[in-house]
Amino acid sequence: MKVTWVLPGGEEVVADVKDGMNMMEAAVANNIAGIQGECGGSLSCATCHVHVSGDWLAKTGEKSDFEEAMLDMADGDVTDASRLSCQITASGDLDGIRLVVPI
Ligand code: FES
Repeated sequence: MKVTWVLPGGEEVVADVKDGMNMMEAAVANNIAGIQGECGGSLSCATCHVHVSGDWLAKTGEKSDFEEAMLDMADGDVTDASRLSCQITASGDLDGIRLVVPI
């Protein structure tokens, strides 16, 4: 599946991501600036914060209460479109998803 990251400067990075990989791992593998994934995806750092663009948000599923709580500690502007990208798993349903790295 294809993922597009929109960087704070407006530059876009498109990469092929294998099904089953989470979006934080995919971002780190593609050197996306601003996505660190310090906790390795164990939902304890919030350094994988992204904004999910438009209609894609609904396709990423519901946030857990714990993810919601962790988002309070995230850097960057936290909005209704905010997700922790380690909690979004690549699948065919998300082919073409756009993730914005928050400022
Ligand atoms: S990588 Fe730490 S919360 Fe997502």
